[in-house]
Amino acid sequence: MSHAGSRRPSIDPWRLIPMDKSVVVPGNDDFNVVFVGAGNIMFGSDEGPWNHSFRFEHKLGPRLKVVALIDPATDRARAVLKAKCDSFVVSAYKDTRVYKNLDDFVHNMTPNQRPRAIIVGSPPMFRGSTKPGRDIELQILKHFPGVALFIEKPIATGPFSELQDAFGVAKAISDAKAVCSVGYMLRYLKAVQMMKQIIEENNLTVMATIARYACAYEAIAKPDWWDKSRSAGPIIEQGTHFCDLSRYFGGEVDISSVSAHSLEWDENAGKLSKLNIDESIIAPENRIPRVTSATWKYDSGAVGSFTHVVALQGTNYSCELEVFADGYSLKLVNPYVQPVLYVRKPGDDHEQTYRFPDDDPFFSEVSNLIDVVEDIEEDPEAAQILSTFEDACRTYELTWAIRLASEASRQKRIDANKAAAAAVEAEAEAPATAA
Ligand SMILES: NC(=O)c1ccc[n+]([C@@H]2O[C@H](COP(=O)([O-])OP(=O)(O)OC[C@H]3O[C@@H](n4cnc5c(N)ncnc54)[C@H](O)[C@@H]3O)[C@@H](O)[C@H]2O)c1
Repeated sequence: MSHAGSRRPSIDPWRLIPMDKSVVVPGNDDFNVVFVGAGNIMFGSDEGPWNHSFRFEHKLGPRLKVVALIDPATDRARAVLKAKCDSFVVSAYKDTRVYKNLDDFVHNMTPNQRPRAIIVGSPPMFRGSTKPGRDIELQILKHFPGVALFIEKPIATGPFSELQDAFGVAKAISDAKAVCSVGYMLRYLKAVQMMKQIIEENNLTVMATIARYACAYEAIAKPDWWDKSRSAGPIIEQGTHFCDLSRYFGGEVDISSVSAHSLEWDENAGKLSKLNIDESIIAPENRIPRVTSATWKYDSGAVGSFTHVVALQGTNYSCELEVFADGYSLKLVNPYVQPVLYVRKPGDDHEQTYRFPDDDPFFSEVSNLIDVVEDIEEDPEAAQILSTFEDACRTYELTWAIRLASEASRQKRIDANKAAAAAVEAEAEAPATAA
């Protein structure tokens, strides 16, 4: 089911087929793919279920031909390729060439290596911009007009001053009519699509979205995530998934309404006892907040809120999204690992619980992209791209607005404290006046 206009696209949840029950896309022709980035998102890691190459292998079977793997860290690229070539999926990788950058591939490519899809999983600081060296999307559009794109989230992490550049990239992609999907895979969760279905079938108007992302900080050893100058901070890098889901249900955000507060690393309540990185080597102004809490108005009048917390130890995160409408609450719990949906409806004070044990949003995301590229579905409405580049730019804009609002309110508090201290000092120094 798809919806035009302001309504965001959705998919019948029962069409989201798990990987082991899906049928390999039929056909004998090779499906050429280029991977940009040989890191965790592309080839998997212990930290989570992501691994795009694995999903492409299942979706395309023997048709998959990875013609190039582009990564300046060529040793890492060669190591992951070797592992693939030592496995049963060797046919997809035996002719894969490693390149340091897109230009090298363009100059060395033979006509039969022309890709049908380019999957970009490089760090966001190298993309989403119009600046040379960080403009991979524009370079791809130039060299491969018509190729389908998959771009990981967030679409960029450059300075705030470049936000409009990202919208320029979105326009270039849409002007070129390129198929483009951005990696907000939580939109493809069966639970999320069931929430959408309940809202649409009952013609509900969302009144509030309440999102929470509490990470297990002890397990985060990636230095970039602790350094705002490298990752743009936890809201833009990780919380982005929940800001995006909030927008998916709440609609467009009135950016001028965003207000936020933070608990910072140098406040008493922000001290953490189990840090696994050396925070002292990060410049104080780039250390990440322990709590960021934001509220905003949607254009519809509904209210959104999001709280990001760096407080839990161990390994499991605690993440939730609640959506309220007249008579209804839809609560999504643990969407990354084991999604559970609690639904309360009119006429019953108790929640119904739904579980989705074999759901794989990473596969559904890839599967929908390929089906759209191949355009083979009998029902043309069936395959959908749920996150476009332009839509993802708006999520990026919201996350920047939250960061800036929290930093502004922190500054206001620091200034007020300073002014109060100065006033006390001035009063102490003032000559005593006789009563
Ligand atoms: N959707 C999800 O749940 C999810 C999960 C993990 C990562 N991600 C996203 O995927 C992206 C990559 O993250 P990761 O964990 O794979 O990082 P990573 O550090 O493991 O891998 C990134 C790779 O990109 C390479 N690289 C650096 N500059 C490059 C360039 N200019 N061109 C090509 N390759 C380049 C690096 O050498 C490295 O091998 C990030 O945007 C991250 O947010 C998303």
